[in-house]
Amino acid sequence: MFNGKHVLITAGPTYEPLDPVRFIGNHSTGKMGFALAQSLAEQGAQVQLVAGPTALKLEHPNVQVTAVMTADEMFAACQQFAAQADLWIFAAAVADYKPKDTATSKIKKNDATFTIELVKNVDIAATLGKTKKAGQFAVGFALETDQELENAKGKLLKKNLNMVVLNSLRDAGAGFKHDTNKITIVTHKAVEVFDLKPKAAVAQDILESIKTEWACTQD
Ligand code: CTP
Repeated sequence: MFNGKHVLITAGPTYEPLDPVRFIGNHSTGKMGFALAQSLAEQGAQVQLVAGPTALKLEHPNVQVTAVMTADEMFAACQQFAAQADLWIFAAAVADYKPKDTATSKIKKNDATFTIELVKNVDIAATLGKTKKAGQFAVGFALETDQELENAKGKLLKKNLNMVVLNSLRDAGAGFKHDTNKITIVTHKAVEVFDLKPKAAVAQDILESIKTEWACTQD
């Protein structure tokens, strides 16, 4: 089913610079997005992988990696590829906010306290979601600590997604900095809970669910 399909994947964190040496970021490693890209490429898909700062490498003839740093850069790269892609997978942990101003020189510690004003970043999934056409399939991720299912269902609607892969931080071994993950897949019709597994096996479960659900939307 993925053979010949064009896929856009976001992965990793974004870094939002405060000055030339400091940034606001998060602990995302990019493993989940890279595992999905690898597996899709092996199944014959043409993958555009837009990755925030990560130590991971992926060399496969079917994968083109675009390295970005900030949410704005990630969005600009996604805008180039989204219209042509059949499948969008938003696996990146995009920083929700960025510093209002970025200093051009290193900020010196002059005062006892220091306040940073933050402004909202573009929501890449939601913005592209507004342009989604019939036949395109969009998958988002949600990392939640409370009211997990309600929040995941809210994201399906708010971001015009077909599927949300939910990670609960309440589950041991799930989330950032683990080689395992425990997911729940939420669609508009169903909720499926999976066991704790290595991230490569989780990627297979996600791709199988996409296949099933995408086939239904094309009927
Ligand atoms: N996402 C995105 N652009 C953003 C924020 C999130 O594309 N600026 C995508 C993520 O890649 C993920 C999904 O939206 O697939 C949900 O991300 P999450 O951080 O859980 O949701 P938020 O909308 O940021 O909501 P909140 O942080 O308030 O839970």
